Amino acid sequence: MQENKYPEPSTSIKACLFDLDGVLVDTAIYHYQAWKRLANTMGFDFTEEQNEQLKGVSRVESLNKILSWGGIEKTDTEKEELATLKNSWYVDMITKMTPAEVLPGTVDFLTEVHQAGYRLALGSASKNSGIILERTNLAHFFDEIVDGNMVTKSKPDPEVFLKGAEFLGFKPDECVVFEDAVAGVEAAKRGGMKAIGIGEKSLLSQADVVVSGLDKLTVEDLKKL
Ligand code: BG6
Ligand code: MG
Repeated sequence: MQENKYPEPSTSIKACLFDLDGVLVDTAIYHYQAWKRLANTMGFDFTEEQNEQLKGVSRVESLNKILSWGGIEKTDTEKEELATLKNSWYVDMITKMTPAEVLPGTVDFLTEVHQAGYRLALGSASKNSGIILERTNLAHFFDEIVDGNMVTKSKPDPEVFLKGAEFLGFKPDECVVFEDAVAGVEAAKRGGMKAIGIGEKSLLSQADVVVSGLDKLTVEDLKKL
């Protein structure tokens, strides 16, 4: 992680907190394939629509939802084994990711905000953020990384973003969060931060601004927040 050598911006927003999956990279397809394989081994199917409901949801909570959709009960030990199995399939896929899988506009936007002096942190529910950031060559953009390994409460609890703000040394109202999940936008607002939703306006109605992707944003948009 590098220190930002550019001076702080004079705007009220000074730091950018980025969700990972669905904002910087599209890993939902790999989560879907791994969860589907797991559901299939237990004798039921799992749809892409259901996968949508798992956005921003932690691994253990995702498994609980899938088991309830399949009408299956498991002990805590069995759940741990299932989550580990799913994760091993998921990790097999994400270790083959390349920088070509970074979502459109991401590298340009991260470069632009970094050079404008904003401090950058990752705020992700994933425990696999390290592999993904390394494989996609994005790690060097971030001053701080907060992920699923460092929080006890998952989104919509604001813990992940409050930690990011604290590590960067800014107050919540000096931060803007970039999020594709409803639970993530809610976490940002509960934390007292601005939120830029990435996706559908109808879905991310709590966000201050909604765009379809980082390719639709410039540093000028941060000055209007
Ligand atoms: C979030 C994803 O970023 O991370 C969820 O949107 C996922 O779908 C969660 O379940 C946890 O990820 P991981 O990599 O720790 O299993
Ligand atoms: Mg996300």
